[in-house]
Amino acid sequence: MNLEIIRTVDGIRKRVAEQKKRGKTVALVPTMGGLHEGHLSLITKAKEVADFVVVSIFINPKQFNNPDDLKTYPSDEDADLESIAAEGADTAFIPSVDEMYPQEFATDVKVTAGVNILCDAHRPGHFGGVATVVTKLFLQVGADFACFGEKDFQQLFIISRLVEDLNIPIKIIPTATVREKDGLAMSSRNARLSEDDRRLAPKLQEAMQEVKSNTRNGMTINTACEAAWKSLEAEGNFKVEYFEVRCGKTMVLMEKLSDDCRLFAAAWLGGVRLIDNIKI
Ligand code: PAF
Repeated sequence: MNLEIIRTVDGIRKRVAEQKKRGKTVALVPTMGGLHEGHLSLITKAKEVADFVVVSIFINPKQFNNPDDLKTYPSDEDADLESIAAEGADTAFIPSVDEMYPQEFATDVKVTAGVNILCDAHRPGHFGGVATVVTKLFLQVGADFACFGEKDFQQLFIISRLVEDLNIPIKIIPTATVREKDGLAMSSRNARLSEDDRRLAPKLQEAMQEVKSNTRNGMTINTACEAAWKSLEAEGNFKVEYFEVRCGKTMVLMEKLSDDCRLFAAAWLGGVRLIDNIKI
């Protein structure tokens, strides 16, 4: 395998500095492992925009508000490294929890835009943990670009805000959601769906497409979202958290259809939380 593995902050800093000295641009693809085609599309994008690609793998304990979710988060370093190498990235940065958060660690990064809504309303503390680890990764790696999937649109919004607010010299590159053939948005957690639930899972995307066509045919956003919520829960195993249409630029709730409208949905299926969003 022709992939370099670096586990320390000093090591990654040195490697990136060397590349930059040679006039190379660097892109970072932050991940928590459990890699699927969605991650691989981020690596492909990173290779398009930069000369040297670093993929980080770090299961960030600070962003798990549910200890069981952390315990069962898929983790297979060897398989991930093979995928990263096959996709042609240059370096895997895999810091330990102690390297990231030494005992005396006492700093939280808190973004106050795009919060208290959608996932943040249901996973208190989650985005604080994301903001903290992503800020650290940006400062540790010193990449010119970082690639994030639109599947986690609220995360993308919050990270873009923090980069601007803290003047971090990195360009955020959003990448389209990658879907299974049946429309289910790819996610590391999909691996935890039972066979029956996996068959049901695409119903979330189907309900979202219904909202899109109903609102385009004149139904109000509220009525369309309520109908989708009910029809999904009528399938049996789903427990919906939200169906909301918001402006993709400001995250403000939208009552009327316009160019910037995005539909956001989250639902539990068995013990797995699915999230998705589409432009409508
Ligand atoms: O999207 C993820 O996988 C994580 O939230 C991220 C950005 C790698 C931070 O831990």
